[in-house]
Amino acid sequence: MNACIVYSSCTGNTRKVAEALADTSGLPCFPVRIAPEPDDFDILALGFWVRKGLPDARALRYMERIRGKHVFFFGTLGAWPHSDHARRCMAATHKILQAGGNTVVDGFLCQGRVNPQVVAASQRKGGHPLSPERLARLREAERHPDAADLAAARLHWQRSLQKYTANAPAPQPPCLAAGILSTPEPIGSNTSL
Ligand SMILES: Cc1cc2nc3c(=O)[nH]c(=O)nc-3n(C[C@H](O)[C@H](O)[C@H](O)COP(=O)(O)O)c2cc1C
Repeated sequence: MNACIVYSSCTGNTRKVAEALADTSGLPCFPVRIAPEPDDFDILALGFWVRKGLPDARALRYMERIRGKHVFFFGTLGAWPHSDHARRCMAATHKILQAGGNTVVDGFLCQGRVNPQVVAASQRKGGHPLSPERLARLREAERHPDAADLAAARLHWQRSLQKYTANAPAPQPPCLAAGILSTPEPIGSNTSL
């Protein structure tokens, strides 16, 4: 099985999750800027940070190059991970990957600290008001991803790998894979015997 972890992270939250996945699986982990082409792998874990309700642009560009693979996606966001906003982001990510003929094995989102400069800039520009609800959510996000998020992400990735290996086609001998020999008939299939 050829597998790897590729992630995009601006301020380090998604990188932390990616590193936890690499640590638990012993698989190679690459920032998206220097990641190998997805064609080299059977199953990939793809990480992103959420921007305007979708995976960030770098992750999206890489995602569009993934074709016919098994994919586990993970991401961090400022919103509550079980909010409608997060659910819509999961659904959109699922759809993008499926459009590339991929099998989405699983998806995982958790909160990640929002850069305070971005929050301040959005206030200056008259963005969403800092309501008590929003302040509480941003304060909570500051503590994430935490140990529980990393443990949950590890579990999702381990289960995805197990699911993939349980269903993966058995490797063919090289002569069959190259089409030199045809598949032998199973013993007992000859009705004239
Ligand atoms: C420009 C910008 C746009 C963002 N848009 C969203 C968003 O639409 N929804 C959300 O929940 N969080 C949003 N966030 C918060 C980030 O997704 C969150 O802080 C994430 O954990 C950052 O991950 P990173 O540290 O790996 O870059 C945004 C952050 C930035 C800087």
